[in-house]
Amino acid sequence: MKILLTGSNGLLGQKIVYALRQHPDVKLLATARGPNRIKTQQGYEYSEMDIENPVQVADVFDRFKPDCVIHAAAMTNVDACELNPATCNKANIEATANLISVSKIYNCHFIFISTDFVFDGTAGPYSEEDAPNPLSVYADSKLKGEQMVRQSGLDWCIIRTIIIYGVTDDAQRSNMVLWVKNSLEQKKTITIITDQFRSPTLAEDLADACIQAALRKAKGIYHVSGSETMSIIDMAYRIADFFGLDKSFIKPITSAELNQPAKRPPKTGFNIQKATAELSYSPHSLNEGLIIVAKQLAEKRL
Ligand SMILES: NC(=O)c1ccc[n+]([C@@H]2O[C@H](COP(=O)([O-])OP(=O)(O)OC[C@H]3O[C@@H](n4cnc5c(N)ncnc54)[C@H](OP(=O)(O)O)[C@@H]3O)[C@@H](O)[C@H]2O)c1
Repeated sequence: MKILLTGSNGLLGQKIVYALRQHPDVKLLATARGPNRIKTQQGYEYSEMDIENPVQVADVFDRFKPDCVIHAAAMTNVDACELNPATCNKANIEATANLISVSKIYNCHFIFISTDFVFDGTAGPYSEEDAPNPLSVYADSKLKGEQMVRQSGLDWCIIRTIIIYGVTDDAQRSNMVLWVKNSLEQKKTITIITDQFRSPTLAEDLADACIQAALRKAKGIYHVSGSETMSIIDMAYRIADFFGLDKSFIKPITSAELNQPAKRPPKTGFNIQKATAELSYSPHSLNEGLIIVAKQLAEKRL
């Protein structure tokens, strides 16, 4: 099976590459903007591909002729999306349309990574059948991506996820676990929201679910997240406790006080039974995930 991955320099993308490289049944083409930022460059192919450039996208697809596309690339900074809706829509809607259109030529199985933010957070935890109601430009762009995928006529799969965390080789963006850890290590005060609830997801677990979806040619929507739902501040406290850091630098704040540009859903969390049953999905607890993160950080320092 030939799998083309978009966004391979991102957090999820890197984990999919590490999990799929040298997979006996898969030929992987990792694609991203600019040079490959993954340290290990053996065991898979890499092509530069800006998903907003239809000519480059068509060229890369023509050369590789994928059976399956895992579309993990996106503009993921929710506040930046709110402040720059045209840039967000270009990356998350127009580029997805580009990818769908070339995927039709090769009749690819199309796997789209989406978000819990498609929901308004008034009735979490959410099942795959629940009705979306996006609150932000980012959330709306991802839901429009989902709608295009569903109407594409391709065999499609949408994997929605929640707060991804993990260690990368070299990524532009940090994530909640590394940000809290690094800030507290540097004794920086951080303000953390008390009244939003999420299920943090270990990037390796999500990568495995995406790979299972590809190998099993799964169709439909799947909710894939960690199994524990907690407030964002509890997550920060648990990270601090795990790494033995001083929690007094964590300052509680409400969503109303923080007043971020993009509105966030108050309480999400997923019912993950479908993924458990059909993708053999079995996520690590936050504590188990932090053990994996700590081990990877220690190996990086060697
Ligand atoms: N992170 C989360 O907590 C979260 C939660 C729910 C859903 N998701 C979804 O999960 C997926 C993966 O997220 P992630 O955490 O891996 O995000 P990430 O680390 O921000 O990675 C996204 C990648 O997309 C790439 N990208 C953006 N525009 C591109 C373009 N025009 N051409 C090629 N690549 C482009 C970025 O490239 P550069 O590195 O060059 O900027 C980045 O490497 C996304 O679809 C996101 O919407 C994420």
